[in-house]
Amino acid sequence: MAKGIQAIRGMNDILPTESAYWQWFEAIARDVMAAYGYQEIRFPIAEKTELFVRGIGEATDVVEKEMYSFEDKSGESVTLRPEGTASCVRAAMQHGLLHNQQQKLYYLGPMFRYERPQKGRYRQFHQFGVEVFGYHQAELDAEIIFLSANLFKRVGVFDHVTLHINSLGTIEERLAHRTALIAYLQDNKAVLDEDSVRRLEKNPLRILDSKNPAMQEMIESAPSLLDYLTEESLAHFERLKTLLSAAGLSYRVNPRLVRGLDYYSRTVFEWMTDRLGSQAAICAGGRYDGLVEQFGGKTTPAVGFGLGIERLLLLIETLGQKTGLENQPHIYCIATGAEETTQAVVIAEQLRRAFPGLRILSHCDVGSFKSQFKKADKSMAKLALVIGEDELAKETVTIKFLREQREQISCAQRELVTMIETILKEV
Ligand code: HAM
Repeated sequence: MAKGIQAIRGMNDILPTESAYWQWFEAIARDVMAAYGYQEIRFPIAEKTELFVRGIGEATDVVEKEMYSFEDKSGESVTLRPEGTASCVRAAMQHGLLHNQQQKLYYLGPMFRYERPQKGRYRQFHQFGVEVFGYHQAELDAEIIFLSANLFKRVGVFDHVTLHINSLGTIEERLAHRTALIAYLQDNKAVLDEDSVRRLEKNPLRILDSKNPAMQEMIESAPSLLDYLTEESLAHFERLKTLLSAAGLSYRVNPRLVRGLDYYSRTVFEWMTDRLGSQAAICAGGRYDGLVEQFGGKTTPAVGFGLGIERLLLLIETLGQKTGLENQPHIYCIATGAEETTQAVVIAEQLRRAFPGLRILSHCDVGSFKSQFKKADKSMAKLALVIGEDELAKETVTIKFLREQREQISCAQRELVTMIETILKEV
């Protein structure tokens, strides 16, 4: 059926029936952010390529294979943001937000990764992200986890997600582990698949994340990073666990959780679901105490997460909970004839002024009463306001109840606001 130019594979339109759910989620997300005192930041969709290469790490899948990079007309290499953290750090540094200050920020918007599209994995997807700067305490790691849990409760999926946590330690601790890990992997080179052999020197930690069944036994016995953490890092992790338990939030310590981006240190976490097949991570993040310094700023502890909005909405749909959005019109205005329609438009405007929250749909088109009533019914409006020849002559409006068995009412136009007010209390 569809002809003409199509959208790019993996980049989706969000149609009117869907956008209502997006708005619903976004409103809840903003509400939760306000409750925790976080402020919104908006940064560009494109950045200099170098920002992501340096921030995310050269040996990561995102930088190696997935970036939408191109040269602009001046020959500068530009990249559509594959994630928000590097951009957020850049913006915060550029505008002095990190200078002797602490920041609790959030953002919402599209990200771009050239991945193989499938259910829950797209080339343009949307993240709701938070980034907190200037706090080294595990209390903040806990706070953003609480905040995400709260969000999951508000949208009704909390019972279907599991929190996985791990600590990646500091860079020094990771280096010590890395040396031991490379030695171990070298000894087991025969078991490694092609991808892992390639990663062996560049990013051995990622090999532990492999799903290849033939490598699982070898991965199980690999040196664990947790054994290389210093007392300080262990204490930080313990504090996080204590805080989560104190708030009654259950979690799984998952030593194999390593994340796909290079900037993490200490805490990493992911909220996973078993309802979406292989695209199980709904929300993921952690601490990245070294990134600001790596970009040339003063040492600034930081922690954050990104939540995949498509995946969350997909989960809500899978659970059969994608219903009951309050976006249907309250009132549908019906009229026949030019003068009647003029009157109906004026009345609709008067009602909108009198009741700012009221959703009123004006038919504003030709059509028999019958076809207009059909549309009114389909719109799920509660009331229809009708102006025909008779009503025009008598300066009245007929109010019909579309969702209940109730006698229609004939109301003088000048008394309509009072009448609607009374009816709204009843329906
Ligand atoms: P990430 O794990 O790459 O982390 O992405 C976060 C979330 O975005 C994932 O858990 C998933 O829900 C969603 N997501 C990622 N790729 C796709 C895709 N291709 N299609 C649909 N959804 C996707 C980050 O991006 C970090 N910036 C998170 C962070 C913030 N860490 C610290 N602060």
